[in-house]
Amino acid sequence: ALYGRVERPECIACGLCQMLAPALFDYDQAGIAYYKPDRNTGTEPLNDQATIDFRLAYQRCPTHAIKRSDQPFNARPFSET
Ligand code: F3S
Repeated sequence: ALYGRVERPECIACGLCQMLAPALFDYDQAGIAYYKPDRNTGTEPLNDQATIDFRLAYQRCPTHAIKRSDQPFNARPFSET
């Protein structure tokens, strides 16, 4: 299985990932991206269709802030506050 998340300190709020994969990425109030399906914890495996969109965003993120792994990341959940 494939897991994804955004390493938020590396995101420069360029906006590309949300354009390429709107189901997978969203922004906080500052424009910093997070991975939407599991609130950036990287615990929910991508299905086949989502994997195609994810790979595009992963490849094009200018700072390589989008991370992928075949193991769950189990990161702390993103919250707006
Ligand atoms: Fe940030 Fe990269 Fe998306 S810089 S907005 S994670 S494409």
